[in-house]
Order: sequence, then structure tokens, then C-alpha cells
Amino acid sequence: MSWHTHAIFYELYLRAFADGNGDGHGDFIGLRDKLDYLEWLGVDCIWLLPMYPSPLKDDGYDIASYYGIHPDYGLLEDFKMTVDAIHERGIKIIADLVINHTSDQHPWFQESRRSKTSPMRDWYVWSPTDERYQDVRIIFVDTETSNWAYDETTGEYYWHRFYSSQPDLNFDNPKVREEVLRIMKFWLDLGIDGFRADAVPYLFEREGTNCENLPETHDYLKQMRRFIDTHYPNAILLAEANQWPRDVVDYFGDGDEFHLCFHFPVMPRLYMALAKADRTSVVDILADTPPIPKGTQWGTFLRNHDELTLEMVTEEERQFMWAYYSPDPKQRINLGIRRRLAPLMGGDRRKIELMHSMLFTLPGAPVLYYGDEIGMGDNIALFDRNGVRTPMQWSGAPNAGFSSAKDLYAPVIDDATFGYQRVNVAAQRNDPTSLLHTVRHMIMTRKALPVLADGDLDWLHDLPKHALCFWRTSGEQRVLALHNLADAPLEIALPDGAAFSDALDATATVDSSVTLSAYGYRWLQTRT
Ligand code: NOJ
Repeated sequence: MSWHTHAIFYELYLRAFADGNGDGHGDFIGLRDKLDYLEWLGVDCIWLLPMYPSPLKDDGYDIASYYGIHPDYGLLEDFKMTVDAIHERGIKIIADLVINHTSDQHPWFQESRRSKTSPMRDWYVWSPTDERYQDVRIIFVDTETSNWAYDETTGEYYWHRFYSSQPDLNFDNPKVREEVLRIMKFWLDLGIDGFRADAVPYLFEREGTNCENLPETHDYLKQMRRFIDTHYPNAILLAEANQWPRDVVDYFGDGDEFHLCFHFPVMPRLYMALAKADRTSVVDILADTPPIPKGTQWGTFLRNHDELTLEMVTEEERQFMWAYYSPDPKQRINLGIRRRLAPLMGGDRRKIELMHSMLFTLPGAPVLYYGDEIGMGDNIALFDRNGVRTPMQWSGAPNAGFSSAKDLYAPVIDDATFGYQRVNVAAQRNDPTSLLHTVRHMIMTRKALPVLADGDLDWLHDLPKHALCFWRTSGEQRVLALHNLADAPLEIALPDGAAFSDALDATATVDSSVTLSAYGYRWLQTRT
């Protein structure tokens, strides 16, 4: 059994997690202090958001050096100590690998833009006109009007899929391709367990295409995988490819590309199913998801550090989601919603648990977003996606126990519902009935039931549409996961011939039928 297929990931934004040196920014000292917490929570692997030197125009996704650590976070030595401390606790760590683009402050780009004859000119994608690749969509639609930016120094345009301060690297240049392998080697030699690879569909450009998912891109990603398999066989690659399932599955290759790929389309449909009390959209998208090679896995999630993206839904569904989950237009950004899980659920504990239950029982390796395990809120007054990246709420102490500094990189949430005085780790650890304990219990239960990671999925179709119920089966092990998407009790007659026990509650008895409370859920295990 490979570790990644059964892992539970925890997405950790270092700046927000814990400030160890009192400067108002989270750092590696702070993270080391909190590893006991992550071990207690039971997560298997940390995904660390970009920690590299960066002007932070895109919160570190604009890298100015691939071989260092942002000074806010510490030194390379701190990084190494942290990796070792994480491993001592039996936890793994993967880092963000952002290779599609760099910051415009990166010395490579500074050199490249200097003149048309610069030796690094073709490290980036330059053009005398902005007419090329007209079939390519714009991703940051709220800020960018073109994927080309004019550069006065040489009177040419450079290509960028994200902010204009993030010029795309030119993967047609073999030196770029070699350099990426060198970067991977550098971090893997420091002991990390792999990478979450950013924005992988966009590496190459070809006229007459939408420049996404190109064969050249897949060829190169396979080369990255060969490099890993040859030199670091236990390391993994997780793809961020925000595409339809039929296109994402290509990123698994024949088991020779990515170990894991995020399943973007299922995520908004979990929210939609709940909003409409109708499982259909989740059933349909999973039916449209082709099988994946043995040894690979989907990465599934409820929220992350970006907006809740609505790229992989129809226009009608997008309008529904916007109207339902972001009634205030300020809660919207690009093609998504910049809110956290708990506020999206209206703070309703039943719904927050139900969403987690679906995440932990449907196929895929769950990727939790820091703070969602305690039901943290958001702050739409902050710029861009920063409202979902506020300091972790450790306690009711000043600054939520995050930092001793006077000024923080961002204010802590202190509104009446989600403020740190009410929502924090310390209070919830002391309360066995808290959301934190419930999420931890789901994590522990899931880990004891490998069928939830590798089992087949079979729906119970003969139930009302607000019943999202399915079997997970692997050999002798069978789990029946029941979810009630509606605000009224739901009685379900259990299939004949099986005896069940409740996997989440050893004290509960299970008769021939169960009644789920409004937004209730149960995980039933067959007894043999
Ligand atoms: C995806 C990342 O998740 C997002 O935060 C970033 O802005 C873009 N890629 C560009 O790197």
C-alpha cells in the first residue's frame, strides 16, 4: 500500500499558522511548536504553501528564488530542522512547486527583459505582438485583460497566465526544463516527501490551441515523474489541474505521471448538493469521472487558500452557487467565492459536519485546509483571497494566541460568530463535543477503515434525492455511508442480509432501519 493513497493531507499556510519569533508573521519556529497539535489531529502529510523568497504579489506563488526561504519564515536551516521534526512525528511534508511562472523580480526575468539578445531571453515567452494564442482564456478575470504584458525596455510582450507580475517560463527551452529538475532535487535532498505542483496544465504554448493539457506538457510532466521514481522513489507528485475529470485523468498517465490529482469538479457539487438537497450533481460528476490507474488517488477538498472556484460548473450552476453562497458581491472573486467553509454553512454545525463526512467517505485522499477543523471564519474586507488566509485561532488570548507582536500580517477574525474568543483550538480541545474533536474522530475512524480510501463506490439509488448514500467496498470490508442533505429527518431501511455496527459510535445500536436527523450522517460497517 503506497502511503499517498491512504493519506489525509493538511494544507498549511505558514504565514498564518504560528508566529515563533514575534514579528507578526507565522514561521518555521512557530510551526515546530505546533507539531504536537498536528500529530494529535492525526494528519498524515502537510502541504506547505510556497515558502520561497518572493515579493508576495501573489502570496508567494510569485517566486523570486527557487533555492531559498522567504526571510519572514526563517533560514534554510530552519526549514531543514522543521522537516526533520515533522518526520520524527511520523508525518510527511510536501512543498508547493510553482514552475509555470516566476515573479517578475526573479533575476532570470530581470536578465531576460534586459534585451532581445539577452542570454536568458528565451527563458520566458516573448512576442513582438499580443496577437498570439488568442484561444487562451484569462484566469484572473477580475484583474487581467490579456495574457500578454507589454515591456517597454524592448518593446515586446511577455506571456503570463496569472498576474502580469508572474511571467510564464518557456518550457520549450531545454535549460528551463533542466532547471526545474534541479529545483526538485534541491528540495528533495533536504528530505521533503514530494510536491504539490501548481498550475500544471499551462506549461507549454501552441498556436491554435487553448494552451492547456497539451501533449508536450504531459511529456514533460512524465519526465519529472521519471526523475522522482529514479532518485526518490518514495516521493509523490500532486497535481493542481483545475480541469474536467476526462482531462484531469490524463495527468495520472498510465500511472507514470502524477500520484495524485485534485478533483476540482466534485468540490462545488458537494456544496450544490447540500444547497439543493439533491445528490444528483455529485452522483453525475463521479459517474463522469473515468477510473484511475492503480496506485493513484484523487485529492479531494472542501476549501483551500484560493476562492471556492466555480470554473468546473455550468454557467447556470455558477449563477446558482453565487446567488446562494455569496449573496454579497464582495464575497465573489474571479469565477469563485472567497469565503471559508464555516461561514458558507452559515455557522451551522450540522452542515459543517455533514460536509466533512462526505469528504471523508467519498473516494479520494482528503485535503483539509488549516482552520476549517475548528470552523474558522473569513474577512472579506481583506484584499484578494487574503480573507481566507487569516491567523490560525489557537486560543482566546490576544492575537488568538498566534503571535506576541503588536502588528500582524493580517488581523485575526474577531466577529461575533467566528471571532477567536469563541472559535479557537484551546477551547475546542477542552471540549469533547467540539467540532475539532468531531473532525479528529472522523480522521481516526477513516484511518481505521482503509476501505474508505481504496474501496469501490456504489450508490443507493432507490432513495429520495436528498439521501446521499453509498457503499464503499474492498474485499470483505464494507462501509455504508449515509448522508441526509435535507433539513428534516430521513428514515432509511437498511439493505437486507447485512448486520451493521456504527463506525463512528461504538455505543450506538443499528436496527433494520435508521433515522438520520436533519443534515445527519452515519458510517455503518458490516459485521461478518
Ligand atoms: C494556483 C494557486 O493555488 C493560486 O493561489 C495562485 O494564485 C495561482 N496558482 C498562480 O500560481
